[in-house]
Amino acid sequence: MKLLNCSNAGAAGFGNRGRKRLYLVTFGCQMNEYDSQRIAQVLQEKYTLTSDADNADLILINTCSIREKAENKVYSLVGRFKKFKRQKPGLIIGIAGCVAQQEGDRLLKRLPFIDLVVGPHGIYGLPDMLRDIEKGTGPVLYTELKHDFSTPLISAPLPEPNPVQAFVTIMQGCDNFCAFCVVPYVRGREVSRPPDDILAEIRQILDEGVKEVTLLGQNVNSYGKKLNDDFSFPGLLRMVSETPGLERLRFTTSNPKDLCIDLMKCFRDLDALCEHLHLPVQSGSTTTLKRMNRHYTRDGYLATVDKLKSFCPDITLTTDLIVGFPGETDRDFEDTISLLKTVEFDQIFAFKYSPRPLTRAARFDDHIPEEIKAERLEAVFELQKEIGLSCYKSMEGRKEEILVEDTSKKNPKELRGRTRGNHVVNFPGPKELVGKFVTVKITKACYHSLRGEIYDTLKGEFQMNQG
Ligand code: SAH
Ligand code: SF4
Ligand code: F3S
Repeated sequence: MKLLNCSNAGAAGFGNRGRKRLYLVTFGCQMNEYDSQRIAQVLQEKYTLTSDADNADLILINTCSIREKAENKVYSLVGRFKKFKRQKPGLIIGIAGCVAQQEGDRLLKRLPFIDLVVGPHGIYGLPDMLRDIEKGTGPVLYTELKHDFSTPLISAPLPEPNPVQAFVTIMQGCDNFCAFCVVPYVRGREVSRPPDDILAEIRQILDEGVKEVTLLGQNVNSYGKKLNDDFSFPGLLRMVSETPGLERLRFTTSNPKDLCIDLMKCFRDLDALCEHLHLPVQSGSTTTLKRMNRHYTRDGYLATVDKLKSFCPDITLTTDLIVGFPGETDRDFEDTISLLKTVEFDQIFAFKYSPRPLTRAARFDDHIPEEIKAERLEAVFELQKEIGLSCYKSMEGRKEEILVEDTSKKNPKELRGRTRGNHVVNFPGPKELVGKFVTVKITKACYHSLRGEIYDTLKGEFQMNQG
């Protein structure tokens, strides 16, 4: 799963007449990004987003605890905000998300100047919590984990002024308990969102101009297992893909152990479903996978990839992996290297193993020294640089359908969009094309992106002004 470094939702969206200012920082995965959008929406009556922390009335940090480094970022950031509190006594500072859930009242003790600690299941209660804080009743702590996922449909528009792509969470939590992973402890048990709520939200964002929807869950393949109607994830995909106005559909994340044939067939059968799958392998060694509690083997993973390609030969594959998991021998690591050479992923997200509170692997007694983890990570990146570049080079000369997402941050005369296979493409073009589909001829491969030139506009949506 793609992890965002850190994003700050800038001043956008709801206008700001008479409202207070919210500075919202988001760490972590797309689920946190989605939650931050909900936070902005549930607070929109009273707060408008600002990109200036020093004039904010409310600072909220939506946190991630997946690795120690992610958690530490929170402490250094929140420390910087302490002085604002002295300058502006009415300022409210809150910590939301996975570190809030994990640490609970320890955060209030460690950072006594903060006013609010709210776990991922508490975000819809934020207006009431803030009201209490404003009344002066003292700090608020909310770390309950709920057993249902029926969220109200929020009538507020998305915080971005011109949304092109949007996330929709379809389930919360995880029941897999991979030995390294903190998610089941900070997001709770797996709960599927009712299909009608999902469809209603998708219809609403398509009305706002969204063209591409990514369905989110920590393990989307088990969607529906606990719903009464015996609803499956492929069933949900089929239903969603028929929504009028939906041009592109993606989902993340899939655990390889549950990737069924029916889901593979969706890549062949559903026009809207883009030809990209993020399929985290974590390790190429069957021994390590077993100790990780992943419930598949190296050969099983490779067979899944082969089968998937038989339904969708051009599918782009990306993955996550961990190096230096406790007990990982040189031989185990070689198995990871050889798996990378066999599958040839377009992109990988690789991490040094980081022990997490409450997880099983943190209690294993054969931890790998930091310098070996660093060497292994470096070796993985070196190899993947070559593999990734050759995947991207194979696209040179091809004509690809691009959904234009934005202008380039570096050069306003350039546009940025993505192929159906999820490759980022930069190319010269007018900003009026943002939100439109164009055919782009790929001219050059870079490490994590492509360059191109407009070949044609697509779907009759936009006629370029040639004059
Ligand atoms: N639900 C997803 C994983 C989400 S966490 C899945 O099952 O694939 C995103 C990624 O962070 C994981 O795929 C894993 O590669 C990495 N990760 C999780 N816990 C970690 C840890 N303790 N140390 C290092 N990397 C970790
Ligand atoms: Fe974590 Fe495993 Fe669940 Fe993914 S499937 S969130 S890695 S416990
Ligand atoms: Fe996501 Fe990080 Fe929480 S990866 S689920 S924000 S621990």
